[in-house]
Amino acid sequence: MARSWTPSSWTAYPAAQQPDWPDHAGLDRALKHIASYPPLVFAGEARSLQSSLAKVAAGNAFLLQAGDCAESFEEFSANNIREKLRVILQMAVVLTYSMGVPVVKVGRMAGQFAKPRSSPTEKVGDLEIPSFRGHIVNDPTPTEAARMPDPERLVQAYHQSASTLNLLRAFTKGGFADLNRVHAWTQEFVASSPEGQRYESLAAEIERALLFMRACGIDTENTSALHEVDVFTSHEALILGYEEALTRQDSLTGGWYDCSAHMLWIGERTRQMDGAHIEFLRGVGNPVGCKIGPGTDPEWVLELCQVLNPARVPGRLTLISRMGADKVEDELRPLLRAVHDAGHPVVWACDPMHGNTYATPSGRKTRHLDTIIGEIAGFVRAHKAEGTWPGGIHIELTGDDVTECLGGADDLGNDDLDDRYETVCDPRLNGRQSLDLAFRVAELIRANGI
Ligand code: PEP
Ligand code: CO
Repeated sequence: MARSWTPSSWTAYPAAQQPDWPDHAGLDRALKHIASYPPLVFAGEARSLQSSLAKVAAGNAFLLQAGDCAESFEEFSANNIREKLRVILQMAVVLTYSMGVPVVKVGRMAGQFAKPRSSPTEKVGDLEIPSFRGHIVNDPTPTEAARMPDPERLVQAYHQSASTLNLLRAFTKGGFADLNRVHAWTQEFVASSPEGQRYESLAAEIERALLFMRACGIDTENTSALHEVDVFTSHEALILGYEEALTRQDSLTGGWYDCSAHMLWIGERTRQMDGAHIEFLRGVGNPVGCKIGPGTDPEWVLELCQVLNPARVPGRLTLISRMGADKVEDELRPLLRAVHDAGHPVVWACDPMHGNTYATPSGRKTRHLDTIIGEIAGFVRAHKAEGTWPGGIHIELTGDDVTECLGGADDLGNDDLDDRYETVCDPRLNGRQSLDLAFRVAELIRANGI
């Protein structure tokens, strides 16, 4: 018999990576406030994303999930949101045009604040202080006071998510994402670069295609698909009290939805089969994801599919592998085979970032674009060999001209990292590197004839 589920049933299970909130009364108060606030997304939108993801699961669309490693309370502005959206739109255009399939766009945005950590504390000089867990929990300044988890930050994260989502909706429905503006999405620092020029010639082809359609009498003015896009939101469902407070019952279907984002995922450090994170997400109606790292056993993945998607609904479950470029092909093939043979309709996405992070001699965390693309190449080869669809990519990026990841057309090296290393957590691809990656992913998939 199926175990019963409620929005709070996760509290009976061990929850990894939860902050040690010192102020319990403050935490209760903050969560009560959030529970009384309006939902950030609606259940119908989550269902619409699920239908789009069902097309990805069937091999007829591609998932582009991208955004910050961790959103910041400080880097919060219209500019910041717009620049990230521009890069995502550009990448989506490149992928759609080159692959000839719809691209489902999901941001790591409007709620991607909380970070799991390898250790709960950190040594600073002689002092042992709590680790930084994302702006939704504490402040990165390395002092005991700044690192104290502060429940008021949960409320601030809600409000920042609401404003971010508001602007995203305005940009995507209000003209900014109009395909007639395909040229205008290029930023200055990208325009003159090789990948920028490559994008410009693709944009010119799209413009010609639109002219051609108009000349043939097609009413492009009134075709909303040419003027608006859907960009959905997602984040790691890490701080379960926050997620529970935004979980609401859908009046239409009676089902429960986590209305903090359209899609939620479980991270590599919180995917314990008998843990609170899997318990929580199994009961919500949103599309959900789970990171899958190296050493994962096929039996475990099948159990996960059974627990998170017992009804085998296409689009409900996305498995996001993050193996490391040198391991992905060997690690992934048995998993692809097992899930395929069991008939589970999952989306397979590749996170080529988190298995390829290392520290430079000066202690900066970084990743090399060639290694990132190397992991995607291994992911595509594994799917080609198993006859399955490489459904999408999961990328950490920013629209800004940062210097956090190495490589790319301007060949950033260790010495460049200090110039503009601005991330609050993991190193992100900048606008040029992201565009370069989109062209190369489209080529990889086409070259493999999948
Ligand atoms: C992340 O996506 O930022 C993350 C922490 O990934 P993972 O859970 O795969 O380590
Ligand atoms: Co990250």
